[in-house]
Amino acid sequence: MTANPSSPLVVAIDGPAGAGKSTVAARIAARFGLLNLESGAMYRAFALKAIQTDSDLDNREELGRLAERTRIRLMPAPLGNRVFLDDVEVTKRIREPDVTAAASRVSVHPAIRQWMVSMQRQLGASSGIVMEGRDIGTKVFPDAQVKIFLDAAAEVRGQRRYQQNGPDAVPAEAVLEQLRERDRRDRTRAESPLQPASDAVIIDSTDLSLEQVVARVEAIVSERLAASH
Ligand code: DC
Repeated sequence: MTANPSSPLVVAIDGPAGAGKSTVAARIAARFGLLNLESGAMYRAFALKAIQTDSDLDNREELGRLAERTRIRLMPAPLGNRVFLDDVEVTKRIREPDVTAAASRVSVHPAIRQWMVSMQRQLGASSGIVMEGRDIGTKVFPDAQVKIFLDAAAEVRGQRRYQQNGPDAVPAEAVLEQLRERDRRDRTRAESPLQPASDAVIIDSTDLSLEQVVARVEAIVSERLAASH
């Protein structure tokens, strides 16, 4: 990790679903005055477009053509990102289970990833950002000054997701099963699989509170900022 004082600060937070990335990213962005950008929301928005157009989620040519007529926009807000698909707000819709599963499927295709990576780099070109996702430290911003890989045991991540969703939604066992399936696909895809960058700080939050994780990441960012001045 190199700290170049002339380029805007980039904090990359990667890790599997349910590790707490979004909450930590929002807190770090607020603390250091950075834009908070959720790269997963972009994959989700594209997955929604694929669902709406009845596209084949495994057909890379069809999805490549669909990408050419798709516009995705993120608007950072205090509680996460507002997300627009072809200028229609889809912030809530993209969190539903069908979109969650489809996002993991459309994200395996190299052409879709390249398109996303170039949009994500543009978003980070002019101001300091916290970007969370799966390949931010390895692929999108390999020179990020801070790289965090946030992990936790699958059972704990499943339980957190279940509690976020509320008891009336999907049963806990099904949440864990879907999370394992998504983990498997995200970690084993050929293009940019989920894995820590060689220079990432790995934080296992299985036995840590949110406050403890935030405190650790804050300390790392402060240290890097001090070193670059
Ligand atoms: O972080 P999330 O749950 O919103 O991400 C949804 C899916 O998008 C995830 O299963 C894999 C994909 N994704 C990705 O491949 N690369 C990213 N940088 C972010 C998300």
